[in-house]
Amino acid sequence: MSSAHHGLSAHAAGSHKRFQVVMTCAIAALAGLLFGLDIGVISGALPFIAKQFHVSDKVQEWIVSSMMVGAALGALLSGWMAKAIGRKYSLMIGAALFACASAVCAFSPDPRFLIGGRVLLGIAVGIASFTAPLYLSEIAPRTMRGAMISLNQLMITVGILAAFLSNTAFSGTGNWHWMLGVIAFPALALLAGLLLLPQSPRWLMSVRREKEAQTVLEHLRTDSKEIDVEMREIRDQLKITQEGWGLFRSNPNFRRSVWLGVLLQIMQQLTGINVVMYYAPRIFGLAGYGSAHDQLWGTVIVGAVNVASTFIAIGLVDRWGRKPILYIGFTVMAASLATLGAMLHIGITSGTTQMVAVAALLLFIVGFAMSAGPMIWILCAEIQPIKGRDFGIAASTFVNWIANTVAGATFLTLLNTFGHAQTFWLYAALNALFILVTLRYVPETRSASLEQIERNLMAGKPLRQLGQ
Ligand code: BGC
Repeated sequence: MSSAHHGLSAHAAGSHKRFQVVMTCAIAALAGLLFGLDIGVISGALPFIAKQFHVSDKVQEWIVSSMMVGAALGALLSGWMAKAIGRKYSLMIGAALFACASAVCAFSPDPRFLIGGRVLLGIAVGIASFTAPLYLSEIAPRTMRGAMISLNQLMITVGILAAFLSNTAFSGTGNWHWMLGVIAFPALALLAGLLLLPQSPRWLMSVRREKEAQTVLEHLRTDSKEIDVEMREIRDQLKITQEGWGLFRSNPNFRRSVWLGVLLQIMQQLTGINVVMYYAPRIFGLAGYGSAHDQLWGTVIVGAVNVASTFIAIGLVDRWGRKPILYIGFTVMAASLATLGAMLHIGITSGTTQMVAVAALLLFIVGFAMSAGPMIWILCAEIQPIKGRDFGIAASTFVNWIANTVAGATFLTLLNTFGHAQTFWLYAALNALFILVTLRYVPETRSASLEQIERNLMAGKPLRQLGQ
């Protein structure tokens, strides 16, 4: 009787702790929400901003991409900050800056002021995009780690959808000030939520606060043996000093994993995903939907398809592996963009061509969300050796934002210079090329342990065999 009772209470304690982990991670993943809100908000506001300030396509591109320039800076800055003041306080600074910068954008009296506000907003997003996955991976027990990294991507897509919905709600009045300002509220909620979160145990140990680290782990892990093992592993890992730049210069094998991370993020951005995220209303306009109302609802559908399709990846990633999913994704994206280009080429004049164009656009989103969206972030977190993990992930996150900037800043110029169909064909060709790049350089990491990947890397095995 008493042992049955003991078993029951141990079980209850176990599920209570799992609940704690999920709650902690859910709050931290809200940082992904900020990332998404920011990506999504501009597409709806841009047409109204352009109208009020009479700005050219060039200035519009800068309004869009100034945020990404800031985010690249923020990613670099946070590599240092997460180490110096810890993950929790970095996230709090990110959330506070995000709230302030949203207010600056909302009250902008002219385009220059707005561009400045968006650089600040970007710095906040850059901090979130580097720190959140790092914190999640350090808080989650090993068995939930993959799911938690995907949770971050899921929150990004939810953030984009929420922004699209809010854009649509404010579009009746055309009030872009509110569109840009309202995202300060979730940031404030995140700030409040973050107060409740523990520090990362790994960071606490790195600043020699072992007792506190132990207390945090006691809250989040079910059995005390697990805590001992984890603390021992962290202690061992910390013996190897993180030598980012020095290691990069001295170790050619580490250089290979850094370049692979950078290449992966360039591929993710050059799929063209953010061209759709930022300029969706414009693309719906090209597809024959003239009214702002129709265009905004179109973007809401894009956002919803993006969220829904992310679940495909979450369900398949540990069963099928990363590479098969990437092959399918790049193929779907290449085919759908080629189709969209073809429709624009023959002219979208009938109901049928319009339907095909919209279907192609949505299929492109499915292709991305089920593959390159989550998969690239997962791979980037898996391929770096412990000794250079902070440096490697900061470098690939930085390049994600640089490539994002290039795509955002050139889209309208590409449309105007090469033509509509040709621009989408260019992106289709890039996606086709990425099938080959995946074949040649991307490792299958599905059932490999991180230690095994590191051993293969340092032994000089070809990149595509790192997981074998
Ligand atoms: C990308 C973002 C993109 C988002 C779309 C993320 O993985 O890094 O650039 O906007 O997915 O869902």
